[in-house]
Amino acid sequence: MSDIKCIGILTGGGDCPGLNAAIRGIGKAALFHSGIKVIGIKDGYQGLIENRVVQLGVNELSGILTRGGTILGTNNKCSPEKYYEGDDEFGNHIYTNAVDRCMETIEQHEIEILFVIGGDGTFTCTKPLVEAGLRCIGVPKTIDNDIHGTDLTIGFTTATRIGTMALDRLHSTGDSHHRVMICELMGRNAGWLTLASGLASGSDVILIPEIPFDIEKVCAFVEGRKNERSGFSIVACAEGAHSIHGEQVVSKRISSSPDPIRLGGIGRQIAHEIEQHTGIETRTTTLGHIQRGGEPSATDRVLATAFATAAFELALDGKFNCMVGLRDGHMQAQNILDAANKQRLIPTDHRFIRAARAMRTCFGD
Ligand code: F6P
Repeated sequence: MSDIKCIGILTGGGDCPGLNAAIRGIGKAALFHSGIKVIGIKDGYQGLIENRVVQLGVNELSGILTRGGTILGTNNKCSPEKYYEGDDEFGNHIYTNAVDRCMETIEQHEIEILFVIGGDGTFTCTKPLVEAGLRCIGVPKTIDNDIHGTDLTIGFTTATRIGTMALDRLHSTGDSHHRVMICELMGRNAGWLTLASGLASGSDVILIPEIPFDIEKVCAFVEGRKNERSGFSIVACAEGAHSIHGEQVVSKRISSSPDPIRLGGIGRQIAHEIEQHTGIETRTTTLGHIQRGGEPSATDRVLATAFATAAFELALDGKFNCMVGLRDGHMQAQNILDAANKQRLIPTDHRFIRAARAMRTCFGD
């Protein structure tokens, strides 16, 4: 038995499949262990600042394992140190430091430990709260799979399944029309999602941020395929991919967000260049948020439940301000700030890249 009486759970950053499985895992472990009170914070840090919470009992935590999204809501544009209050008379945004307001919510509800299910941005935001006295435990989630300290994040395998399904479908239509079919996938500055989906679907070209591409090499490759075989090519392109001469393509900037850049648009750019250079008809599909929606895969449900219960065990052991992770098949914990403000990119000699190269996949380098 433990002497913990009340915990809080918050989901931060972009949603992904498996968040509800993690909420359920932490919540039920706490309730079934010794009737610990479980408070859900709504809409990430925004709810913590605005004191919007909900008590989670067995009823609220049942029937959610298989559901996508998060029953708590989330937010990827609000941080405790930069809370948007409104606009001044000239239309300028007014931001305030709301760390004290977060701590008031924590104190009012007597939350002893806050479980934070998030990515690097969400973990970065814990710093001022920990300095103000918060005890927290992190659970890593993101379809990007780019969190330091874990080989796998909640949401990644489901998003890879969706990416693979999309590329498989582009295969048959591309083959019929002898076209180049480009699919742009999410992932921010990391190519994990594109690499895994590209490998699983046998894509002919895989373009990832870790390997800047030379458009002339990509064109030569798809032209070679046109002359040798049926003439079609499938290109899996990460939103963060960029050429050896160019920058990443930014679709939007959200100033209040812990990570203000939103990428997108490189797929269309490449399509235009391939058509210009080769004359081969080229089409682009941008998967967008379809990759983050819907029910979690079995792997994500298992991973989320395992992470959640490992995180709860850390709390029972009195270990705080750390993040659970999976390294070489083993559950481990590290300081939560070691995962803050940085991204885990693919080493260019990674075995997935070597495997794809062995299949004659073109990376444009
Ligand atoms: O981090 C998850 C992610 O889906 C990225 O892959 C993508 O770049 C970004 O979030 C999109 O953010 P938003 O939901 O704000 O458009």
